Formats: sequence, C-alpha cells, structure tokens
Amino acid sequence: MISFQNVSKLYRGKGNHTALQNVNLQVGKGEFVFVVGPSGAGKSTFLRLVTREEVPSQGRVIVGGLDVGALRPRDIPHLRRNLGVVFQDFKLLLNKTVWENVAFTLQVTGVSRRDILRRVPAALEQVGLRQKQDAKPLQLSGGEQQRVAIARAIVSRPALLLADEPTGNLDPEAAKSVVRVLWEINRWGTTVVMATHAQGVVDSMRQRVVALEDGRVVRDQLQGAYGA
Ligand SMILES: Nc1ncnc2c1ncn2[C@@H]1O[C@H](COP(=O)(O)OP(=O)(O)OP(=O)(O)O)[C@@H](O)[C@H]1O
Ligand SMILES: [Mg+2]
Repeated sequence: MISFQNVSKLYRGKGNHTALQNVNLQVGKGEFVFVVGPSGAGKSTFLRLVTREEVPSQGRVIVGGLDVGALRPRDIPHLRRNLGVVFQDFKLLLNKTVWENVAFTLQVTGVSRRDILRRVPAALEQVGLRQKQDAKPLQLSGGEQQRVAIARAIVSRPALLLADEPTGNLDPEAAKSVVRVLWEINRWGTTVVMATHAQGVVDSMRQRVVALEDGRVVRDQLQGAYGA
C-alpha cells in the first residue's frame, strides 16, 4: 500500500533542514501502524509525502502503485480520492451540520444524491454519531468532533486512512473512543497509519510501531509499544 524507497526530505530555506533521511519502509494492505517519535522527528513529513503535500528530495514514495513524487498535478486528485486524512485540529466546517460536513466532499466530487443518502448515514453509524447528524460541530465534544472528521475521511471509502495526532487535543477517554473507531475501520479492511505522541494508546493496542528520530527509522516493531 505504501512503499518508501530510500526517501530523504530536505526542507530548503535557512538551515536546510533534513526532515527525513534514507527512510525505507513498507506498509501492507490492511495494516494498522503507529508512527511515533519526539517532536520534530519527521512524523508529519512522512504523512505529507504520502498525500503529496510534499515531494521527496531523494528516493521514491509509492502509494497504491502510484509514484507519488512523480505524479503530474492533474493526477493528484486520483491519489487523494484513495486517501482519507484526519488532523489533530479536526478541520470541520463550523457553520455546517455534522451531516453536511460528512456529505460535503461527496457533493463536490459529483457523487449522486442517492449514493450520498446511503453513504453518509453509514459513515456516521461507523463512528457512532448517527444521532448527532443535525448538530453543529461546536455543539459536540472534542472526541465527537474528531469522530465526525473520521466519518468525513472514510465516507468516500479510501483504501488508506492517515491520521496525524488525531488524539492530540483530546482527554484520555475521548482519545480511546477515537482510536477504537480507527481500529474498527481497520478491521473492515482500511489500512490505517497514525502518527501519535499518545503513549497510553500505543501501549494498549500492541500494533506495529515505527519509531522515528531525527528523520530516521530507529525501530520498526510488530506488536510494539511506544518506548523500546
Ligand atoms: N515546511 C517546512 N519547512 C521547513 N522545515 C520544516 C517544514 N515542516 C517541517 N519542518 C522541519 O522538519 C522537521 C520534521 O518536522 P515534522 O513536522 O515532520 O515533525 P513531527 O515529528 O511531525 O513533529 P511533531 O511531533 O511536533 O508534530 C522539524 O525539524 C521541522 O522543523
Ligand atoms: Mg507533526
């Protein structure tokens, strides 16, 4: 699903910071992977190379068979349609309802009304928020808002779901509910890659852990924990 082949990422500008160095990593279809490491280790950079928000300075990033760094601009939507992304700060549209937030991307990509009426409730059901569909985001708890963001990310049925510190703004209980939802989505077949600082979450899940430090993979462990 994801293959990093000798990938380095250098941010040019003052200091010329090397955010990733010679990263080689494979993530298979259906895997659940935590990416951990101290602040500045390169976790977000790793995810942004998958989404083509950044291009590698060296090496190749292959996602679902596409050479992401070499994609022509007009082929980028093809990549993005197969990706769901969730962020720490939810990024919901505050003047729209839960339903409208989840339906929005389907509407702009021209999905039929009939399909929207089928898919939106299914996505809300999957994150346990069917009964909140008419609420506005600010009427929800942080954990609920993040679950709306997850519903929005999965409503187009991507093969791959990326989450960049999705529990960073949440208390431990809400964090658990969010990770439980990600886990269930993974059980249904979606590949999930989650960058996180949440030691408790990582330790309780015992999934694959890829640890970055200073832009290098320093550990890649099946059934791993947050620390070595
Ligand atoms: N757009 C950018 N321009 C220049 N340097 C950048 C840019 N984005 C990130 N960096 C640098 O690259 C390094 C890796 O950043 P990155 O955001 O990937 O780390 P991270 O592991 O996600 O950290 P955090 O846990 O704080 O989110 C950092 O030193 C950062 O300052
Ligand atoms: Mg980050």
